[in-house]
Amino acid sequence: MSDEVTEITPEAVQSAVSAALDAIAAAGDTAALKAARAAHTAEGSPLARLNARMREVPPERKAEFGKLIGSGRARVNQALAAREAELDAAETAARLEAERVDVTAVATRSRVGARHPLTLLQEQIGDIFVGMGWEIAEGPELEHEWYNFDALNLDPDHPARQMQDTFYVDPPERHLVMRTQTSPVQMRSMLTRELPIYVISPGRVFRTDEYDATHLPVFTQVEGLVVDKGITMAHLKGTLDHLARQLFGAEAKTRLRTNYFPFTEPSAEFDLWHPTFKDGPRWIEWGGCGMVNPNVLRAAGIDPEVYSGFAFGIGVERALMFRSDVQDMRDMAEGDIRFSEQFGMVV
Ligand code: DAH
Repeated sequence: MSDEVTEITPEAVQSAVSAALDAIAAAGDTAALKAARAAHTAEGSPLARLNARMREVPPERKAEFGKLIGSGRARVNQALAAREAELDAAETAARLEAERVDVTAVATRSRVGARHPLTLLQEQIGDIFVGMGWEIAEGPELEHEWYNFDALNLDPDHPARQMQDTFYVDPPERHLVMRTQTSPVQMRSMLTRELPIYVISPGRVFRTDEYDATHLPVFTQVEGLVVDKGITMAHLKGTLDHLARQLFGAEAKTRLRTNYFPFTEPSAEFDLWHPTFKDGPRWIEWGGCGMVNPNVLRAAGIDPEVYSGFAFGIGVERALMFRSDVQDMRDMAEGDIRFSEQFGMVV
C-alpha cells in the first residue's frame, strides 16, 4: 500500500472503503469473497493500516477519526455479510438444482427375466422320463441324410422322403440336411449306447414350412426310444398315458390310431384326451409312435429276434398351444419377453 492511504483523512478512508465495496460487489463466488475480505479488512489492508494510525492522532481529533474509520469498517462488514448471504443462497440453489431428484420419475427397475415356455416344457417332459430312469440323448441339428432318412428305413426313392419338406445343405455331395425330425437320434442312440436303451431326446427340427399361426419352419420335437427284451405295444401305450397324466392331470389318457411311418411297424398316430381343455374335454392329435421297425434295429446291428422296441415323437409347440391356450405359434418364435413372462419362473 502506498503511504498516502496510511494518512488518516476522510478521503483516504473513503477510498479504502470504496475499493473494499467494489471488490465485494465484484466477488462472484464465496472463494472470491473470502479473498476480498482478506485484502480489504485483514491485517495489512488499507483500512487496518488506517486504523493502526489512530495512535498518532491527537486526542482532540480521536473521536472524529474514530467515527470515520468505524463507520467505514461497519459499511464494509455489512457489505461483506450481505454479499456472503447472497452468494451462499445462490450456491445452495445451484447445488440443489444439480442434485435435483424427480420423485415422480418412473424408477428404472431391472426386470427379472423369464425362461422360454418351450424350454420349460421340454425340460418338464425330460424330467418326467428321467424320473422313470430314462436318459436324455442329444443329436446334431445339422444331420447326415443317412441318419435323418436312410437309417430310418426311408430310401432315397421312398415316397415318405417327400413327406417332409427338407432343407438340404450345400454342397449336395456331403448329403447334409437340417434334421426334419428328432428321429435320427434313435439311430445315433442305438449305435452308441449299450442295450437296453431308454432315451428321450428333445430338440429343434427344421422344415421348409410356411411361417403361420400353426406352422414354424423351426420347431421342437421330443423323441422317445426304448429297445429292450420283451417290449410290446402295451409298454408304449402305458408310457404315453403316463406322460399325458403327468402333463395334463389324472384324467388324461391317450389313444392310438393306425398310421404309417417307415421306421415303425406297426405305426400309429396318438391322440391326447385333454380333460381341462378350455372349450371342454376333448381328443387332440398329438404325435406319432410305433414299434421300432426290425429293419431299423438291423441297421443298428441289433437282433430283432432278441430285442424289440418302441418309439414316439411329439411336437412341443403343439403341446404348448393346447396346454397353455396359445393361439398363435409365432408368439413362441418371436422372443418377446412379455410372452415368456406370462409363464413365470416355473422350473
Ligand atoms: N418323426 C415323426 C415326424 O416328425 C414323428 C414320429 C412318428 C416319431 C413315429 C417316432 C415315431 O419316433 O415312432 O413326423
